[in-house]
Amino acid sequence: MKVHVDQERCQGHTLCAMIAPKAFELSEIDGHSSPVDENVADDQEEQVREAVHSCPERAITLTE
Ligand code: F3S
Repeated sequence: MKVHVDQERCQGHTLCAMIAPKAFELSEIDGHSSPVDENVADDQEEQVREAVHSCPERAITLTE
């Protein structure tokens, strides 16, 4: 499973990084989120799926 954060949509709400802190990192410059690794580790899948649903901007997408 791969994860992508649309930098145009991300508004830095930080929910993704709170729900899945091992999977997302926030930029110190603009606060935007990006995946730590676009290939989601098996033990992170559940949290990453939760993060996708939590993002108010719908900025996070998954591909199988
Ligand atoms: Fe950005 Fe959504 Fe996370 S707006 S910081 S991807 S919760």
